[in-house]
Amino acid sequence: MYNFKRFKGFYVGVAMFTMLSSFSYAQPTIKDSAYPADDRVYEHLNVLASVDNARVTGFEGEHKAADYIAQQFEEYGLIVDRQEFPVTAFLDQGSKLVVDSLDGKELETKNFTYTPPTESEGILSDVIYVNLGSEKDFANIDVKGKIALIKRGSYSFYDKVQNAAKAGAKGVIIFNNSEGMISGTLGQITDIPALAITQAEGEKLKAILDKEEAVKVSMKIDTEVKDSYSENIIGTLYAQKNARDAKTVVIGAHMDCVDTPGANDNCSGVTGLLELARASQLLNLNYNIKFVTFGAEEIGLVGSENYVESLSQEERDNTACMINMDMIGVGETLGIMTATDNSNMYMADLAEKCAKELNYNYNRSVEDRSDHTSFDTAGIPSVHFDYHIDNNYHTDEDSIDKIDSIKVLNVYSVVLNMIRDLDENMPTNQNNKEIKTMRSFNNFDSGNKAKNGEFYIK
Ligand code: BES
Ligand code: ZN
Repeated sequence: MYNFKRFKGFYVGVAMFTMLSSFSYAQPTIKDSAYPADDRVYEHLNVLASVDNARVTGFEGEHKAADYIAQQFEEYGLIVDRQEFPVTAFLDQGSKLVVDSLDGKELETKNFTYTPPTESEGILSDVIYVNLGSEKDFANIDVKGKIALIKRGSYSFYDKVQNAAKAGAKGVIIFNNSEGMISGTLGQITDIPALAITQAEGEKLKAILDKEEAVKVSMKIDTEVKDSYSENIIGTLYAQKNARDAKTVVIGAHMDCVDTPGANDNCSGVTGLLELARASQLLNLNYNIKFVTFGAEEIGLVGSENYVESLSQEERDNTACMINMDMIGVGETLGIMTATDNSNMYMADLAEKCAKELNYNYNRSVEDRSDHTSFDTAGIPSVHFDYHIDNNYHTDEDSIDKIDSIKVLNVYSVVLNMIRDLDENMPTNQNNKEIKTMRSFNNFDSGNKAKNGEFYIK
């Protein structure tokens, strides 16, 4: 089977080369360049998204993904730079809170991001209510060796927990001040462990304490938190001539994930990016492309912020635009998005034009929860692609079996057409000119899906 595919791939390669060369492209330099993109999507996914907690920010999975991506870039002939930066790595494996005074009832809990774990046997202790958890609140209440029960509001979660730690508490429970669970972060590691419960459960515990009855709980938090590093992997494809003076286009996808397999979020974007890096090698462009897989997106767009901040003024001025792909393998609708509704629309307009040419259904909207936002904030025109809706977002069900490579390749096709158009229609600060079409790459959607993932020129 494998050999057969390679054999077919050879002919596809020859056909593609013939088409490309009629537009006077240079001879492809990639060995086996037309090996089916479709299969490659799953090959990358199998390496990067096969296990749970596959590429959690700052852990080994993310570091190994970085190595794999760097190695792929090198195979495609790109120049690779690795940009490292420090992060606090955090892995959440859940928590358990059992209330003795409520007949051993287990409450619904959520760990605060960056909480340290409890000892593996947990903490068995009395609970003391400490109002909003200010320093003043703790001044008159003895919580030594106890668990502090604190209401949300007025002070940061971090300050509440550190105030409790200073007062000698062993752990903290913070309950919500509105309906629903708190999904909160401490911002940095605290001295004692802390978790959240709902308003209803918190008020219930407080009511028992108000009657001057004791509340004894067993609290167990299973997390891992440590100083670590993350990195951006940058693969540069230089312009065919005068690379030094040429503009630079950034194509990005984040490679880290939360504690899931992270197949759609965002191995899908990474596979699209890798295939684009491979295909772009065949084109002699008049601008540089930096293919960047960002680390540490999930903890606050940290990798892309690092990337943008590390640019010199000259490099920043030279960075003409950015294309981001995040969650492109699951869902019914292709999304073309800008970070805000008054962002520079050049790239989204270009994306829309290319999607139309390929007869894809899409919608235009606003989304700021991914790496294009770091570029938009720096004034660099950017566009963000996804497919939506993914109902398994940030769950353990975000696994390879859900990925439809056709969707990944649809985004790939739109971006490939944009790469083509950008060669003659690069945005500049004053750029508002009409976008000219050069030629189109076809369409992995619908009946005329390219066989074996080769792309055509219309
Ligand atoms: N890919 C998601 C963002 C997303 C998910 C956008 C679903 C639209 C629909 C991204 O990786 C993510 O989870 N981002 C963080 C925000 C970031 C600023 C930490 C998030 O939304 O929690
Ligand atoms: Zn994402």
